[in-house]
Amino acid sequence: MMEIDLSKIGMEKGRQYETIISTADCDGNLNAAPIGVLCRGPKNIMCRIFKGSHTLENIILQKEFTVNISEDPELFTWSLLDNLQRDDFNEDKSIKDIDCYFKCEVTDLKEAVKQSDPIKSKGEAIVIKADVTELVINKPIKAYNRSFSYVIESLVNLSRLDIADDELRKYYLKSFSEAYRVIKKVGSKKDKESIDKIRNKIKEKGYEI
Ligand SMILES: Cc1cc2nc3c(=O)[nH]c(=O)nc-3n(C[C@H](O)[C@H](O)[C@H](O)COP(=O)(O)O)c2cc1C
Repeated sequence: MMEIDLSKIGMEKGRQYETIISTADCDGNLNAAPIGVLCRGPKNIMCRIFKGSHTLENIILQKEFTVNISEDPELFTWSLLDNLQRDDFNEDKSIKDIDCYFKCEVTDLKEAVKQSDPIKSKGEAIVIKADVTELVINKPIKAYNRSFSYVIESLVNLSRLDIADDELRKYYLKSFSEAYRVIKKVGSKKDKESIDKIRNKIKEKGYEI
């Protein structure tokens, strides 16, 4: 069996990655949903899942889940739109033809509210800590982190700020605030340094952010 070390798929401690978590209900029906996974070390992860989702219900019930790592936009889309069928899963609950997946066992479940969250609903989420018990890499892949895309989007918006009309400029500045929030939460050192530079530039131009 492959040595378990999440850094093999580019996952660094303290950063969050977008994944597709597959779980089973009590009748063995399988479910997949996109979920952000925070890396806590080579063999440990954490995620925060809102109440009301099948994923949370199944994890509470089974105390285990499978994290699928993909770069396929359609797979993320299908899994959010609930279009995955029984046939799309392997026996071990991973998604068929997936580049990489790892199996997790829950070690801790806790109620959580976070003030900084864009969706403010009190006590509506559960923080799940888990150990990775098996890592399968079928094809070299890096887990996807949102912050680099946000840096690029912010740069594109920055380059258009001066030529945009008022309404569009407002939209760009608002998008920037969201990008800043996400990058500060899940970005690498370089992403954070970049967004700080972009922020300074926007301020220098005299815009309020
Ligand atoms: C990229 C992405 C990341 C997401 N991350 C989370 C997350 O970390 N926690 C959460 O509760 N929902 C997250 N969601 C929303 C869930 O996927 C969504 O609520 C889904 O409908 C749950 O499906 P289920 O009921 O089949 O579990 C995310 C969605 C996307 C597209």
